[in-house]
Amino acid sequence: MRTQIGIIGAGPAGLMLAHLLQRKGIESVIIESRSRMEIERTIRAGVLEQMTVDLLNETGVGERMMKKGIFHEGIEIRYNGKRRRIDMHHLTGGKYVTIYPQHEVIKDLIAARINAGGKMFFNVSDVCLSGLDTAKPNISYLNESGEKEEIICDYIAGCDGFHSPSRQSIPAEIRKEYQKIYPYSWLGILAEAPPSAPELVYAHHEDGFALHSTRTPEIQRLYLQVNPEDSIDDWPDERIWEKLRLRLSTEDEWTLIEGPVIQKNIVPMRSFICDPMQYGRLFLAGDSAHIVPPTGAKGLNLAMADVQILAGALFDYYASGETGRLERYSEICLRRVWKAERFSWYMTSLLHRHRDYTPFDYQIQLAELDHVTTSKAAAQSLSENYVGLPLEFEEQPLSVI
Ligand code: FAD
Ligand code: DHB
Repeated sequence: MRTQIGIIGAGPAGLMLAHLLQRKGIESVIIESRSRMEIERTIRAGVLEQMTVDLLNETGVGERMMKKGIFHEGIEIRYNGKRRRIDMHHLTGGKYVTIYPQHEVIKDLIAARINAGGKMFFNVSDVCLSGLDTAKPNISYLNESGEKEEIICDYIAGCDGFHSPSRQSIPAEIRKEYQKIYPYSWLGILAEAPPSAPELVYAHHEDGFALHSTRTPEIQRLYLQVNPEDSIDDWPDERIWEKLRLRLSTEDEWTLIEGPVIQKNIVPMRSFICDPMQYGRLFLAGDSAHIVPPTGAKGLNLAMADVQILAGALFDYYASGETGRLERYSEICLRRVWKAERFSWYMTSLLHRHRDYTPFDYQIQLAELDHVTTSKAAAQSLSENYVGLPLEFEEQPLSVI
């Protein structure tokens, strides 16, 4: 098979890249190791930055999001039983916190791909990249019937998530990897219950962190800080509700509305960056190049920013043969990535309970919580990061849309 761009992975990064390219008449082929049903059902992110919302709308895949999405003007931060609201809409000049689940974004992008007649193959295995430093890189794999296939491309986009074989194809002596592993995990549940609060609640408690998020008026998404060695069997539903009640409790009469737990999972927390995000004719985008702890709700949004930048650079190449932005892809992305890494690390440090903190460290953490929820300047800084920094001027992918 021959194509212009070979895309490995049908997550938000791979699907959005294919969509942006297709709108400009650039051909791509997506290969994905899981089934369509599995990727459309995996529960992950919930919060979209304004930039992601605008991108989905401006490229014609935002219709269901505008109907089913939930638009908040702020978030609440709780600590020591206090409730402090941060009015992000006001502090960022009119931006919103949008809640629209990642698997719904995936469904919208797959539907757009099918509508456009784009090539997309599920259930592939044994993916192998070669010729990355030649003009004709190629991807070999086994299709869902177990037959060997090959795609010869102009460029390859490695959008295959954290356990990325694409990243491993960059020679180890060129790759610099930065990593931080946090000494806790998140237990996430979906519960059949109405929302207990009008906006997202991030709670710091001596017992640990808790987050109340939402999906629909009938289904809520809640998270708890747990020990990294915990398994789901350590967390029967009653224990989960007991900890949520404790950690979300306030001095006033707020009550948590409980309901049947319909899904639960535990995810580890890490920060990770691969530098550079490119090698020869291979470009990494999204979780294949970087991971953030989920506290800042940045992962999916960073993936969307990477592919906007990559798509813009590929347009330059196909329109005029200009490779300047392709050559600088990694440099341009990493500026934004490091800022999101910093913010995600900050939110994680601010809100979790750190077992290794001294009493001094803990008082400093409480002082920071007090500051960020009472100082307009500090709350504004948190808000502009949370709703999303604009793409830098030189990264502005105006031609994408
Ligand atoms: P992925 O979504 O991981 O997609 C990669 C795809 O590649 C997968 O479908 C995988 O099956 C496929 N693949 C892997 N290997 C191969 C192979 N060898 N061949 C072919 N295909 C392959 N982000 C936010 O922005 N906001 C949030 O609120 C948020 N909350 C989160 C909450 C939790 C609990 C978790 C776990 C994550 C959260 N994230 C959030 C992060 C977000 O889900 C990820 O950053 C996002 O999925 C990254 O998209 P991606 O396309 O880069 O990678
Ligand atoms: C959700 C996930 C996050 O990581 C976050 O910070 C806020 C909300 C969610 O899944 O709804």
